[in-house]
Amino acid sequence: KKVVLAYSGGLDTSVILKWLQDVYKCEVVTFTADIGQGEELEPARKKALAMGISAENIFIDDLREEFVRDFVFPMFRANAIYEGEYLLGTSIARPLIAKRQIEIANLTGADAVSHGATGKGNDQVRFELGYYALKPDVKVIAPWREWDLLSREKLLAYAEKHGIDITKKKDGGSPYSMDANLLHISYEGQVLEDPAKEPEEDMWLWSVSPEKAPDQAEYLELEYERGDVVAINGVRLSPAQVLAQLNSIGGKHGIGRLDLVENRYVGMKSRGCYETPGGTILLKAHRAIESITLDREVAHLKDELMPRYAKLIYTGYWWAPERKMLQTMIDASQESVSGTVRLKLYKGNVIVVGRDSRKSLFDANIATFEDDGGAYNQADAAGFIKLNALRMRIAAKLGQR
Ligand code: ARG
Ligand code: SIN
Repeated sequence: KKVVLAYSGGLDTSVILKWLQDVYKCEVVTFTADIGQGEELEPARKKALAMGISAENIFIDDLREEFVRDFVFPMFRANAIYEGEYLLGTSIARPLIAKRQIEIANLTGADAVSHGATGKGNDQVRFELGYYALKPDVKVIAPWREWDLLSREKLLAYAEKHGIDITKKKDGGSPYSMDANLLHISYEGQVLEDPAKEPEEDMWLWSVSPEKAPDQAEYLELEYERGDVVAINGVRLSPAQVLAQLNSIGGKHGIGRLDLVENRYVGMKSRGCYETPGGTILLKAHRAIESITLDREVAHLKDELMPRYAKLIYTGYWWAPERKMLQTMIDASQESVSGTVRLKLYKGNVIVVGRDSRKSLFDANIATFEDDGGAYNQADAAGFIKLNALRMRIAAKLGQR
């Protein structure tokens, strides 16, 4: 029996590692991914070695490019937002972690996988739906749903008893439950558990407050190819580089903070704060390039399906057939979504100031308020309106009788 643990190197998953060895008496393989959370990964290797994991059972992978190219960018092609606000920063990372974890299980001949998500949240669902979709007979071990270490004190006591390093990570004293990757950083718990209370300013790690942002606006030009950003200000960049750069520019201008009460899949409401500077810019810019390159009905249909697509990602169905079906449709719509968008960033705002494309459907000759030289016949509109009014006129006449 062998289990692949999604291991961050932090306190919680270190306790899980020990607990798996003690309770399940099984060989543990650790898997630590760099998805842009901005933490050193080598300490995770050291800690795993210190807990008796052999070198060949320690996997540390840089998944940053794959994360943005195959998960974040496809999601942004759909303009996905959950409950009108949440840019799905944590939700979109889980399917990738599940996928790599299963790959490692197959590589090492493990029959089980384990994660550090609690029994109260969305993440357990996202991880496990992914595991089962990719390895139907895998055994799943979710320690938070099994053990009795349900408070911080009990966890710390267990760690101390077993000689687990409990020194805080470099995010130092932050008391929040956080999750970070290239798309966002999230904060939950502590004072946030009262939705009426405003978080302290020093909670936010990625962005300045709009009040403290520069007084000078910054212009930005994004180049799109088939719905994805491929260059910033004329410099071609990889997907992960695009997002990293937009995060730092956006953060500097106070862009992308969100304070939200959301509905978790398991049924409860929960309050979370999020910083998604690059994602907030991407969403606005993508809509701008689509505004000139997409047919009206294609755009409207995408908008109708978007909440469904976003909900599939939020609730963990990335690997489900209906998500893949929607993705195929969304990707097909992006064939013409190429061109440039010019933006102005200013004190928390992303302002679109220009868009241009060789595939533009915008026809200045037809849209003009000046003489269009017969490109559009205004007289046609009279019949168009009259036939569209027909049923209302029939009903109105009935009402008059
Ligand atoms: N509420 C957000 C979501 O469900 C963020 C979850 C953060 N996860 C975490 N392990 N801290 O996507
Ligand atoms: C957790 O419970 O592990 C984090 C919160 C969530 O998954 O929604």
